[in-house]
Amino acid sequence: TRTPVNVTVTGAAGQIGYALLFRIASGHLLGADVPVKLRLLEIPQGLKAAEGTAMELDDCAFPLLKGIDITDDPNVGFDGANVALLVGARPRTKGMERGDLLSANGGIFKPQGKAINDNAADDIKVLVVGNPANTNALIAQAAAPDVPAERFTAMTRLDHNRAISQLAAKTGAAVSDIQRLTIWGNHSATQYPDIFHATIAGKNAAEVVNDEKWLADDFIPTVAKRGAAIIEARGASSAASAANAAIDHVHTWVNGTAEGNWTSMGIPSDGSYGVPEGLISSFPVTTKDGRYEIVQGLDINEFSRARIDASVQELEEERAAVRELGLI
Ligand code: NAI
Repeated sequence: TRTPVNVTVTGAAGQIGYALLFRIASGHLLGADVPVKLRLLEIPQGLKAAEGTAMELDDCAFPLLKGIDITDDPNVGFDGANVALLVGARPRTKGMERGDLLSANGGIFKPQGKAINDNAADDIKVLVVGNPANTNALIAQAAAPDVPAERFTAMTRLDHNRAISQLAAKTGAAVSDIQRLTIWGNHSATQYPDIFHATIAGKNAAEVVNDEKWLADDFIPTVAKRGAAIIEARGASSAASAANAAIDHVHTWVNGTAEGNWTSMGIPSDGSYGVPEGLISSFPVTTKDGRYEIVQGLDINEFSRARIDASVQELEEERAAVRELGLI
């Protein structure tokens, strides 16, 4: 029998946590034959609700679930962790300046990064979901100098999935026929969903669409502002779709991309495509054996270049701001 994989989820009592934990426990995160132990990390006010969720997890009698620990101590929460999903974050409230938002999140992600550094398993893989995800990942990474930098990633898979769905709706294609879509840059309104290298049933997606106005005025803003549209419609931010994307991100990282296809992940830049080294930015990546690689050699047209640069510039500004605050 296999040793269970330790999966730590922060913000476990929140709405994404509630949509996420049951799918981890039922085998969707790592595989239908991989036993898991869950660690739920919350702040003290969240512990009681996390205990309630743990009761429900017990009540599912999931065969793969080998244990649940609940704690408000990051050192305990990340002890022996193989996979960490950092979901809990400080949301932007009305009138909050960017500097305040970044410092509030620094107060969460810096100590969590250190706790990962000091306690996690050698093969730890980290996905940051909590916003601002890319920069929170940078903060956690900087606080974990003993962990290989590439283990810190940020989630742009929800944007990737949203873009596939919009493209399928526009063209009448099945989502499963769409491959090689790319989200570039920051998980924010500046992100750039790129269809110039995407294929629909093997044909170039941009040629199938053949409508640059739709691309610029409809597709890109719809994908980038989808989060706000969900809040408007549902009265609460994306939760089940965000949880689903977190599952997809880790599952793909661990189990690999299909031959010929790729996915989007926020990862530390190695300087590819002119993205300054070290920024955690979204790229097209292939994955295999638990490692990812940036897809190289894509031709970036002017339309794409301007949009990638704008999002990367925002990431550089966020990095400069957290540097100034002493968070990295
Ligand atoms: P929520 O407010 O329902 O839950 C957040 C939970 O985190 C709360 O239970 C809170 O007690 C907990 N928490 C706060 N500080 C913590 C800490 N230091 N340690 C452990 N737990 C802590 O929020 P929701 O809807 O679950 O969203 C979580 C985050 O995910 C937000 O930052 C949201 O903006 C982000 N998000 C990111 C997406 C992406 O595509 N990257 C998509 C959707 C949401």
